[in-house]
Amino acid sequence: MIRRTLSPAKLARPGVRFFRSDLVGTDTWRMHQKDQLAELRARDEYVDVKASTVKVAVTGPAGAIGYSLLFRIASGEMFGKRQRVQIRCIELPFAMNALRGVAMELQDCAFPLLDGVYCTDDPERGFEDVDVALLVGSKPRGPGQERGDLLRENGAIFTNMGKALNKFARKSVKVTVVGNPANTNCLIAANNAPDIPIENFTAMTRLDHDRGVGQLAKKTGTAVSDIKDFCIWGNHSPTMYPDISRCTIGGRPAKGALESAGAEASWYTEEFMPSVQQRGAAIIKARGASSAASAGNACLAHARDWELGTNGLVTSMGVPSSGQYDITPGLFYSYPVRCDGGNWSVVEGLNIDDFSRQMMQKTENELIEERDAVSAYLP
Ligand code: NAD
Ligand code: LMR
Repeated sequence: MIRRTLSPAKLARPGVRFFRSDLVGTDTWRMHQKDQLAELRARDEYVDVKASTVKVAVTGPAGAIGYSLLFRIASGEMFGKRQRVQIRCIELPFAMNALRGVAMELQDCAFPLLDGVYCTDDPERGFEDVDVALLVGSKPRGPGQERGDLLRENGAIFTNMGKALNKFARKSVKVTVVGNPANTNCLIAANNAPDIPIENFTAMTRLDHDRGVGQLAKKTGTAVSDIKDFCIWGNHSPTMYPDISRCTIGGRPAKGALESAGAEASWYTEEFMPSVQQRGAAIIKARGASSAASAGNACLAHARDWELGTNGLVTSMGVPSSGQYDITPGLFYSYPVRCDGGNWSVVEGLNIDDFSRQMMQKTENELIEERDAVSAYLP
């Protein structure tokens, strides 16, 4: 019987640098068997390839967010201008033609760092050996649908995503869930991927964070870089809690800086909070479609900061609670985090006042309800 192992030494041509990713889509790649992947992982040359190319899977790449995100990943904005990337696009069968068009456009950009684009409608093939997975593809709410219907429909999608990641991605894969309802989709995917550490799963609340920072900067007439220690707690939904209790603007406590800029005392609770919480709906109303370029930008920033660090600065990420701030363990809850050395950590030891506690519990309760509504998908 012929052993179907990959043989890089034989495939490499003298004088030509060999990347394992060059095999993607070839028959040799298709024939390789999963148990042999373990052998490959143990080999030196495999490690070399890892150092050369980051493999990023994106689901829903033919959609609006995907169309904005892919080009920025390929240009080196996610992992730095010296890091080669390979993009593995996973779409639904009906969107494969559109996806091929996007892949053509990526090729036409001749990005020096782009080490191939692979298009498939099979998540198992798409997640094969990936380092990073950006789960954008998700079914939006249709006419007459209730939130519970959406949770259940996407529950099936994210169950399959979790299972495929568990089986085929690297165990070190870093997963970012963008598709709504992001926190609970992330909960489902993580719980269906028992062999991947739970801290490798995160839900994106960076768009909410950046929306808050943008509005504070506008109101006070300062640069966004002057705004520190703002954060989003809880769910990516209207119950989220945009918190300025410890936020500073130009080195001053945010509330004082806002007052000096002429904001009414009620601006924070009556205008700022609802505006951040409802910004998604406001964009849908104005644009006729949900936020896409800003969501792609937030996804890029989330994955980049997770990988490359936040330089001591605080950002917001939906991460698995292990009970910090008395939040129910296991929920994917947005916390203030810092990232360093490729890991996130929740900022601990913050003083939580009564108002904040109430807001944090409200959004936690919604996440508990969502978790209970999808219990059928949680093994
Ligand atoms: P879109 O409808 O333009 O594109 C979605 C794409 O996903 C489509 O091409 C569709 O074919 C694909 N898709 C659906 N199910 C899939 C599956 N099982 N596997 C692979 N591909 C699949 O939508 P969009 O504007 O790109 O938004 C995508 C998701 O992101 C939506 O759920 C949206 O609500 C969400 N979103 C989240 C945030 C956030 O802050 N977390 C912000 C904006 C949008
Ligand atoms: C957003 O926040 O822009 C998205 O989650 C879209 C939505 O449905 O609100």
